[in-house]
Amino acid sequence: DWTMGAYKDEAIRQIREQVGDAKVICGLSGGVDSSVAAVLIHEAIGDQLTCVFVDHGLLRQNEAQEVVTMFRDHYNMPLIHADEQELFLGALDGVSDPEVKRKTIGKLFIDVFQKHAGEVGGAKFLAQGTLYPDVIESVSFSGGPSVTIKSHHNVGGLPEKMGLKLVEPLRELFKDEVRGLGHELGLPASFIGRHPFPGPGLAIRCPGEITREKLDILRQADAVYIDQIRKHGLYDEIWQAFVAILPVRTVGVMGDGRTYDFACALRAVTSVDGMTADYYPFSHAFLGETATRIINEVKGINRVTYDVTSKPPGTIEWE
Ligand code: XMP
Repeated sequence: DWTMGAYKDEAIRQIREQVGDAKVICGLSGGVDSSVAAVLIHEAIGDQLTCVFVDHGLLRQNEAQEVVTMFRDHYNMPLIHADEQELFLGALDGVSDPEVKRKTIGKLFIDVFQKHAGEVGGAKFLAQGTLYPDVIESVSFSGGPSVTIKSHHNVGGLPEKMGLKLVEPLRELFKDEVRGLGHELGLPASFIGRHPFPGPGLAIRCPGEITREKLDILRQADAVYIDQIRKHGLYDEIWQAFVAILPVRTVGVMGDGRTYDFACALRAVTSVDGMTADYYPFSHAFLGETATRIINEVKGINRVTYDVTSKPPGTIEWE
């Protein structure tokens, strides 16, 4: 009979068989998927694995530091912290089309990996935390014709020129199964329970042009929102929650002055696998309190809306 423990042992056996004594680099995003993949592969092949954590400047508040601390200091994994904020934000300057954003980020990721694969000295494999829904959703949309809804930046194979083979030990799993595997591997519950975070990061929560100013505001608003959700004990009931900053300024009044600041949208959904989702039915009291906190605590936002779109017809992310 099937248990996660048996799955883990078999996955480790397969990784060893596939990789032999070659070196592997793993793209670590700090999300649950790539983290579970990294810990699993580390357990299989130890320091043959080097993780590359790319800071594209599109991460959440304190995220880079948390990831580096956990993997380098706690797990003692060889970890390259690639600070490529200038590169990514420079390339995204003036870009507002969602697919161009995704493709720009996806291409730069590959460039950055290629660079760091060289530093590792002859890596032959690249590991990714690709899940089953990523595989099918990038090929076709459930039931419909073969249409690409969004270019997931971590699927679709790597250019041959990169000369690396893929290791994708989570390819057959759904999110809840990945969490089970993470638990089996001894990852902290707080980490396993984290909401999913997309590879393109805050870029796809910032419709329109991405600026450092908007990213800063978005990070602060998101931190307040997540703090509210945790304080109300709702974090684990929600599949994913985040703020999107809207490409529009609106007029408001604060104290005795007029404000002209950005509007934002709060998003929270329940889901089993990310393929379909329902918006979360927060109480009006929660929404009102959260809006007040964001407007009081985050300079640059003077209006808060709540997104009540389910998937389909919406998608979870805004782009
Ligand atoms: P959507 O917006 O398509 O998102 O309803 C479904 C789930 O996938 C996540 N997502 C991504 N994850 N790379 C990722 O690793 C991506 O390019 C990407 N795009 C969306 C999204 O956060 C949600 O959990």
